[in-house]
Amino acid sequence: MAGLEKGLEELIAKWESEYTARTKKSRELFNKALKVFPGGVTYSIRFYSPYPAFIARAKGTRVWDVDGNEYIDLWMGHGAHLMGHSPSFIVGAVKEALEIGTHLGYEHPYALEYVEFLAKILPGVEMLRFTNSGTEANMYAVRLARAYTKRKYIVKMEGGWHGGLDILHVGVTYPYTQPESAGLIEEAYKYTLLVPFNDVEALERALKAHDVAAVILEPVMGAAGCVEPEKGYLREVRRVVDEHGSLLIFDEVITGFRLAPGGAQEYYGVKADIVVYGKAIGGGLGGVGAFGARSDVMELIDHVKYPRTDIRVFHGGTFSANPVVVKAGYLLVKHLAENPGIYSASNNLWSDFRRRVEKICSEHSVECWPSGDGSLSGVHFTRRKPRNAREVFELRWSRLVERALHVYSRLKGILYIGEKVPHFMPSLIHEKDEVDYLLSVFSEFVEIISGLSK
Ligand SMILES: Cc1ncc(COP(=O)(O)O)c(C=O)c1O
Repeated sequence: MAGLEKGLEELIAKWESEYTARTKKSRELFNKALKVFPGGVTYSIRFYSPYPAFIARAKGTRVWDVDGNEYIDLWMGHGAHLMGHSPSFIVGAVKEALEIGTHLGYEHPYALEYVEFLAKILPGVEMLRFTNSGTEANMYAVRLARAYTKRKYIVKMEGGWHGGLDILHVGVTYPYTQPESAGLIEEAYKYTLLVPFNDVEALERALKAHDVAAVILEPVMGAAGCVEPEKGYLREVRRVVDEHGSLLIFDEVITGFRLAPGGAQEYYGVKADIVVYGKAIGGGLGGVGAFGARSDVMELIDHVKYPRTDIRVFHGGTFSANPVVVKAGYLLVKHLAENPGIYSASNNLWSDFRRRVEKICSEHSVECWPSGDGSLSGVHFTRRKPRNAREVFELRWSRLVERALHVYSRLKGILYIGEKVPHFMPSLIHEKDEVDYLLSVFSEFVEIISGLSK
């Protein structure tokens, strides 16, 4: 194993120096950025070694960096761009929408038109409120669940990512025992319990032991490496949550509109009580999220029905339901809902990708496994296929192979975020020749590492 790690270290050093040679302008910008952005980046996960390529432009499935290198983008604005970067039908409409007003701060017809449409296509969502991010939407969803059930405890999954809010910023980083941030006080998350994904018994134990307001999960875990639910798992979660009188929150910030127009609820045929959206719900524009539920849950926000602040749930936000964002979101979601062929093509393409990853690994006798569902796909260099976020890390046989794959992919014109956990959130319009190319690069990489001495 020592020989393998040494071989990988040498490859990374060689590939990073090739990367440095072709990204000189990015390096200059990064050196400047180090003085004004902590860590030189606008969001820590956007860093990769030795410095990130600075992107000058994006269109469709591609991005171009400031040095003119072109990449197939498998990150797609954190997974927000389901129809690729800047689809013409949205850019045109956004230009028109700007004439309405960049921001109104009053009620307007555009948000109403959109939410009426969403209520038709999102299972169980009778009412909804827009927020400014997925993080914020999760914050309100948890508050709503606590108010509805009059209970305190929240159960989340180890490795689950719901944004940086104090209550849910717990157990995100392996081994899930350390505080996730300085400045987080234990009192803020002492009612948050952790269980592994794909483990109904552990969930049942937590539900039995505590008065749980809500169980929150990503139906396909995203940042943990696109780990999919095992057959029947979500249905079992629904059953045990009901048995214990808790609410089920699906964080569909990634899966919403991606797996199907009605998201994971539609795709897996399991309904949650509260559903959280983000990313694509704003049509690729920034500052958006939403949470929705049946009327009897959402009505707790109704200030007329519940004038007393200790009974109603607060929700608000200066930029919530921004007219430009909701116009873009409506166009995107309507386009997807009216073109179901987009889903079948994309979901087939990426399930074929996962089958072929498995074949490549077994042909080269390298222990690596695909994960994911629909277009969401991860690759794990583990002793067996991981069932949850803990296994993604515990079953690894190398500490460097993921980083080596990242820099190798960059040199070959493929870009994603996930130097530590390779996972892809492509658009639904990536094409077969791009997936074929990705597989050919992956196959070359696997062949190189299979030649390293163990
Ligand atoms: C599943 C999930 N929930 C919540 C969030 C937080 O959303 P935002 O970054 O918009 O606050 C993210 C962001 O990546 C996410 O992937």
